[in-house]
Amino acid sequence: MADQYAQYGEDSKPTETPAIRWEEPPEGPVVVLLDQTRLPAEEVELVCTDASTLVEAIRSLAVRGAPLLGVAGAYGVALAAVRGFDVDEAANALAGARPTAVNLAVGVRRAQAAHRAEYARSGDPEQAATAALTAARALHEEDAEASARMAERGLALLDELLPGGGYRILTHCNTGALVSGGEGTAFAVALAAHRTGQLRRLWVDETRPLLQGARLTAYEAARNGMAYTLLTDNAAGSLFAAGEVDAVLIGADRIAADGSVANKVGSYPLAVLARYHHVPFIVVAPTTTIDLDTPDGASIEVEQRPGHEVTELTAPQVPTMGAEAGGGIPVAPLGTQAYNPAFDITPPELVTAIVTEEGAVSPVTAEALAGLCARSRPV
Ligand code: MRU
Repeated sequence: MADQYAQYGEDSKPTETPAIRWEEPPEGPVVVLLDQTRLPAEEVELVCTDASTLVEAIRSLAVRGAPLLGVAGAYGVALAAVRGFDVDEAANALAGARPTAVNLAVGVRRAQAAHRAEYARSGDPEQAATAALTAARALHEEDAEASARMAERGLALLDELLPGGGYRILTHCNTGALVSGGEGTAFAVALAAHRTGQLRRLWVDETRPLLQGARLTAYEAARNGMAYTLLTDNAAGSLFAAGEVDAVLIGADRIAADGSVANKVGSYPLAVLARYHHVPFIVVAPTTTIDLDTPDGASIEVEQRPGHEVTELTAPQVPTMGAEAGGGIPVAPLGTQAYNPAFDITPPELVTAIVTEEGAVSPVTAEALAGLCARSRPV
């Protein structure tokens, strides 16, 4: 591992720059983001003084990943409230910035509800703003706690399914500290395996087109000193065929009531491969990602991203390039149309288990998920 570590300098260690934080400098409160479009080339922070900057940061993927989107949305509502903007307008803009990850709307609505309730009680905008901020901070902390519990439960499940350790885990997209108040979802399980000496290799899908695997998961794996190897998404098939994958671990952006899982595009083909090769396909997500109001996979809105992310090498693939159409290096003839869904849907029958902070469900059924949510959301 020394060579992978070396590129980050001798004192490499897990990133100390949190993915998101609330700060109160003399000029007024701000939400500070680690700009994920610039990684791994440089750690640059993005300072948001209003909700619209945060909305843009969400759309451009400067801040991303389901749990972190929830935290960002909640802080965005608090920011609007503290700075005296129209809170409901900000909340709607934030909740609608990206459609698939349910955590975004959940985080936004939670801070908005706290603001509304306090304003109704006290009639004091300052106290209402404080209530929104308290709700955002609570969500941030809960997410960190959920992450630690998912890691523990995920590791226990691996031990049960694959006794003896030495895991070769394949993962897709980015699910680590960059998407969470803690160490993430699927990545946190792999990290726990690494720390207990049970991770033989983390196979990292590059995750076309925006390369969250290559840019972000490889970055996190290197900084944590994990044994990892990057592969192109379309190399996964031959890796399974060679018997090199013991388990697939991925996160989720929304889990429907029937157990269908929306996650980064390319997850569904991995589930099909895993089933064919008799390899467990495990989804790790907090209960806030389970959306009982969405009945099934077909009801999940899948974000469609601009075609130029496929037809050009552009930011964030190449951070120095423009992120707008025509700002990058063309890799297809001018005028080529592209199909660019950001997510795909894996049906429940292809999912071996869903691991949450409240426990794991396996097999994945509507009844088991509803039971889990009843435990985590008592009335
Ligand atoms: O488009 P992104 O980068 O926000 O997509 C993120 C993913 O698909 C993650 O796998 C998902 O949010 C789970 S993260 C815990």
